[in-house]
Amino acid sequence: MRQFVYFSSSAATSGNALSKYSGGEGNLMKAGRMDIAIHSFIQGVFLSHDFRKDVVFHFIFYGQPDPPKHIEIQVKDETQISKKDVGNIIKKILYKYKGGEKTEVLPGCFIEKKSFLGVIEELIKEGNEIFILDKKGEDIRKTSIPKDCVFILGDHEGLPQKELKRLKSYCKSVSVGNKMYFASQTVAVVNNELDYRGI
Ligand SMILES: C[S@@+](CC[C@H](N)C(=O)[O-])C[C@H]1O[C@@H](n2cnc3c(N)ncnc32)[C@H](O)[C@@H]1O
Repeated sequence: MRQFVYFSSSAATSGNALSKYSGGEGNLMKAGRMDIAIHSFIQGVFLSHDFRKDVVFHFIFYGQPDPPKHIEIQVKDETQISKKDVGNIIKKILYKYKGGEKTEVLPGCFIEKKSFLGVIEELIKEGNEIFILDKKGEDIRKTSIPKDCVFILGDHEGLPQKELKRLKSYCKSVSVGNKMYFASQTVAVVNNELDYRGI
C-alpha cells in the first residue's frame, strides 16, 4: 500500500473552527492553511475521472482548538467524494470526532486523537517503510522503495524540528529535486515515480 502523511502544526482541529473560516476557498488559508492540505490530498488520491484506491492519505493536524487530530482517508467504492468538496469532507470528519475512539465517519474515512509520532510508529509496526520528503534527502530516483511505503511531508512551515530529529534516526529522507516545491507538488511527483516503477 502507498501512503502519505501530511503534517500541519496549524490546521484547524475541530469542525467549528474550520467552519468559522471556510466561507469561501480563499478563507481556507485562515484555517491553518487548509488549502495546502486539500491540494496535497487531491494530488495524492485523485486521477482524471478516477481515484487511487491503493493510496491511504493521513492528515496530522496540530492547530487549535483540540490537537492533535489524525484523519485517515482511503477512497472506497462507496465513498462519495469530489475534488470540489474535500474541504467539506474534512469538516464533516472533524465534526464527527468522538473522544477516545477511532471513528469511521464515512466509508474509508476515520478520525482519532493520535500524535504525529504515534501514527508513524503504528505504520512502522504494520510493516511499512517510512520516507521523509526532504529537499536535502537522497535522490528518490536512486532510492529503493518497497510496495508498502509511507511518505511524510509538511505544510508551508515544514516538519516540526523535534519530531524530525527523532524520525531521521530511523527513516530515510528522500528528495524529489533540488528546488523547494509546494507540498502538493511533491505528492504528485512521488505518485508519478511509483507509477513508473509499477509499485
Ligand atoms: C513548501 S515545503 C515546506 C517549506 C518549509 N519552509 C521548510 O523549510 O520545510 C512543504 C513540504 O514539501 C516537501 N518538499 C518540498 N520540496 C521538496 C523536495 N525538493 N524534495 C522532497 N520534499 C520536498 C517537504 O516535506 C516540505 O515539508
